[in-house]
Amino acid sequence: MSEPINRCPIQLTENGQLRHFLTTEGLPKELLTEILDTADSFVDMSAQQVKKVPLLRGKTVVNLFFEASTRTLSTFELAAKRLSADVLNLNISTSSTKKGETLKDTLMTMRAMHSDMFVVRHSDSGAAHFIAEQVTPDVAVINAGDGRHAHPTQAMLDMLTIRRHKGQFEGLKVAIVGDILHSRVARSQIHALRILGAEEIRVIAPQTLLPRHIESLGARVYTDMNSGLRDVDVVMMLRLQKERMDSALLPSESEFYKLYGLTRDKLAFAKPDAIVMHPGPINRGVEIESAVADGERSVILDQVTNGIAVRMAVMSMAMSGQLAEKNRAQPDIDNLNL
Ligand code: NCD
Repeated sequence: MSEPINRCPIQLTENGQLRHFLTTEGLPKELLTEILDTADSFVDMSAQQVKKVPLLRGKTVVNLFFEASTRTLSTFELAAKRLSADVLNLNISTSSTKKGETLKDTLMTMRAMHSDMFVVRHSDSGAAHFIAEQVTPDVAVINAGDGRHAHPTQAMLDMLTIRRHKGQFEGLKVAIVGDILHSRVARSQIHALRILGAEEIRVIAPQTLLPRHIESLGARVYTDMNSGLRDVDVVMMLRLQKERMDSALLPSESEFYKLYGLTRDKLAFAKPDAIVMHPGPINRGVEIESAVADGERSVILDQVTNGIAVRMAVMSMAMSGQLAEKNRAQPDIDNLNL
């Protein structure tokens, strides 16, 4: 496979360090591996008595959420607190406001408060990138989900969960199942899996929930569960994202469950040691049978735990990338050999 193209140079410093985290697309394998290695060390730390490190001490992190969230917001908050940052959570409804104007106004207000990092969730694809272009050089931006485009920390917590259960990516067959069309998670997962060297990436969905040209990202398309799940090592389920469906794309939820819901019977087509994942929130009896979601092959709660570690890793790496860049631009007078 060809090398990924870096389509988002803004997220790296001149030296290739993480500066913002906006997408997994086009990032070097070494950088994704560094995120996973750093996160691994934070997973171990979470089991200790004292769960805090001073890496972001004196820094202010603002969680700027324009869309609802439970686990992403709370794990970002916990991650920032475990790094010793001061944290501010802002839930902003976009329903009555015009795009762009609110974003700019909010950003200017936050800028005046001397925030050091914005964690952004927004319903518009490209919102986090837009903010990263607007902020001053001493602010880092982390994308916590933008429209259908990307959800890079979710993809990396999924990668960490896979690596901790399977050891490596080489040789793995991974199936992503369900509403691929509306899923920022699926896109970020496909990029990350490809970069990290998974052997085969499959997407399984009804034709109406498949984006056009999904094959060009490096995924094989299946519209049938039994053949798509055959011999896979990892099954990644997705939620039906009805809030992003502007027309009836499905006959009914029960029909979807019959054909694409992950039941014990369908899981039997995967490898006997296959793991089952879901980013949450789960719709039991729509995407997944309760017995599978709560079963011994489910790693859904590990994903939540690993989310804290991955978010700690990304935040600390982006902050040190941003500091390195700032020091290059304005060398500290004490560090000059005058
Ligand atoms: C995902 C999201 O918001 O994109 N969830 C999450 O971050 N835990 C997936 C979803 O909402 O279905």
